[in-house]
Amino acid sequence: MSPLSQPRANQPSDLLYVPEMVRIVRAKSLTWQDRLLEVELPGARQLGQKPGQFVQVSLFGFGEAPISVCSSPTRAKTFELCVRRVGGLTGALHRLKPGERLGIRGPFGNGFPMHDMEGRDCLVVAGGIGLAPLRSVINTILAERDDYRRLVVLYGNRRAEDILFAEEIKAWQTDRRNEILLTVDEPTPGWSGHVGVVTTLFPEVEIDPPNTVVVAMVGPPVMYRFVVLELKRLGIAEEQMHLSLERRMKCGIGKCGHCQIDNHCVCIDGPVFSGAEIMRMHESI
Ligand SMILES: Cc1cc2nc3c(=O)[nH]c(=O)nc-3n(C[C@H](O)[C@H](O)[C@H](O)COP(=O)(O)OP(=O)(O)OC[C@H]3O[C@@H](n4cnc5c(N)ncnc54)[C@H](O)[C@@H]3O)c2cc1C
Ligand code: FES
Repeated sequence: MSPLSQPRANQPSDLLYVPEMVRIVRAKSLTWQDRLLEVELPGARQLGQKPGQFVQVSLFGFGEAPISVCSSPTRAKTFELCVRRVGGLTGALHRLKPGERLGIRGPFGNGFPMHDMEGRDCLVVAGGIGLAPLRSVINTILAERDDYRRLVVLYGNRRAEDILFAEEIKAWQTDRRNEILLTVDEPTPGWSGHVGVVTTLFPEVEIDPPNTVVVAMVGPPVMYRFVVLELKRLGIAEEQMHLSLERRMKCGIGKCGHCQIDNHCVCIDGPVFSGAEIMRMHESI
């Protein structure tokens, strides 16, 4: 597809170029570096996002950046953004309080193929902040639980203090159809759970490759290499893997070329690509 291709049909044309001001209705610290912002569009309109899509978030004087929508579309009226503080804009977003406003454009990108997951076991592999877009996938599955079979979530973090949505994870673990396993790279005092990188959780779960698994995966690029190798070893086809890529973005709508990999724009052709597509794209992971 050409990098100058037209935006997708699911992108509302009036939100493509001009940020719309949204109001923060709730702000909550999740970890020492992550903050959850619940925001509302004017008139409490629904955003209409799909799990895995992102919005371009802007603040005057600080700039604009892509942030995944981390709430499920099944949630009405408001949506949530999980922001990790890494620089100027994300630092300023952390200082915002309920009642204050920020700009958004979107939702943009393709999102995860939820229909492919229906009636099948879903394996979700997340590393660190990668759980943010996948929380939207997980909560969509939980809201329409009977449409899906087993839900297996493997979630890795460097340390226990980095784990996102810890309370919500405990609630996910109460449904016997869900297997939610956590691991940390470096154990700290008080951590009695699994230790090791996320791939060391694979032997802990039963996976039935041919007819069950559609994999949704988000995390640091280094994680992708090892997880993809492990999944292939288990016999999971590349077509059954769905990975979300992170690239620096400007326009978010396929015009500027900032996010280009080969002949793909991550902002409109992705950010979610199948494992087979990723293998054909040089420099993707
Ligand atoms: C599709 C997509 C979805 C995203 N979803 C989220 C999300 O849900 N929550 C969240 O906190 N962040 C998310 N990000 C990353 C977020 O956009 C960046 O952290 C943000 O641009 C940083 O802006 P800043 O001005 O605070 O930092 P800057 O001052 O611009 O950068 C701070 C540091 O982060 C690095 N950096 C910035 N952007 C990126 C990037 N895209 N890839 C790799 N390194 C980068 C810089 O090199 C620098 O070292 C997402 C990115 C993409 C592409
Ligand atoms: S083409 Fe501009 S950000 Fe993707």
